[in-house]
Amino acid sequence: MKDHIGIVVNNKKINELYNVISVQIENANLGTPGQFYELKVKYSQRMRIPISIYNITDNVVEFMVKIVGDGTKELTQLKEKDTIMALGPLGNPFTPPQADQNCLILSGGVGYAPFYYFKKHYPKANITWFHGGANRNEVFEADRIFTNDGSIGIKGFVTADLHEYLQNNKVDRILTCGPRIMMKNIANIALPFVKDIECSLEEYMACGIGVCYGCAVKVKTAKGLVYKTVCKDGAIFQGSEVIWDE
Ligand SMILES: Cc1cc2nc3c(=O)[nH]c(=O)nc-3n(C[C@H](O)[C@H](O)[C@H](O)COP(=O)(O)OP(=O)(O)OC[C@H]3O[C@@H](n4cnc5c(N)ncnc54)[C@H](O)[C@@H]3O)c2cc1C
Ligand code: FES
Repeated sequence: MKDHIGIVVNNKKINELYNVISVQIENANLGTPGQFYELKVKYSQRMRIPISIYNITDNVVEFMVKIVGDGTKELTQLKEKDTIMALGPLGNPFTPPQADQNCLILSGGVGYAPFYYFKKHYPKANITWFHGGANRNEVFEADRIFTNDGSIGIKGFVTADLHEYLQNNKVDRILTCGPRIMMKNIANIALPFVKDIECSLEEYMACGIGVCYGCAVKVKTAKGLVYKTVCKDGAIFQGSEVIWDE
């Protein structure tokens, strides 16, 4: 992990909420699927923002950014050749899929981001991908699409037919990223069928390096309940270990 000086080579608006920012970073290890960077516009007074690796091609890392506040807006206003500070790659990656495993990805909103690279990085993996969002601005290519307002795909949450799907299909692993309530519901529905549920948590972060405990989550361990940090111990945790009702 290193604080890199990245150069913006492209900043593409996908729709009114989302951009994909391409940043050239000179480093031998740019990261594996599930890892993230802490980004900061050079000379900005704002705190660093954790953003997942959306894609890597040669020495360019792409980030899919959803505008939710001033920090993410600032990132989407970056221009070609602008400089960005990129601390990373950070966090634990998703476990690589095994040849005989059926993986089900369940993403919500910007939780789509880490799985684009996961799918590209493991082209031989057996992957089915369900994605859900509030409306058509929140959905991207996947095997099954859900929207809360029904503007595209199936009307409802990404969990709408999950129970039925798991009754009728062999799933060995679930990988999920999105709002906490979505991942909590996924864990509740899926744990009777699938023990291995990797959840990428998107908690608020401050220091980003395991010092402030601003991103702490309560998890079950062999030693009892303990707090772990999403930035240093995660961001990926097993659905069965997270205490979802904190
Ligand atoms: C490991 C990790 C990976 C992430 N990957 C991505 C990614 O690939 N793309 C992306 O766009 N975002 C990602 N996020 C979320 C992103 O970091 C936040 O949206 C960002 O920090 C918000 O900064 P802001 O200054 O724009 O908004 P703020 O001004 O900080 O917040 C604006 C509003 O958004 C809400 N909000 C902000 N952050 C969060 C959060 N983490 N959880 C729930 N609500 C929140 C607040 O309630 C507030 O109302 C990731 C977060 C983590 C922890
Ligand atoms: S953000 Fe400070 S410990 Fe995680």
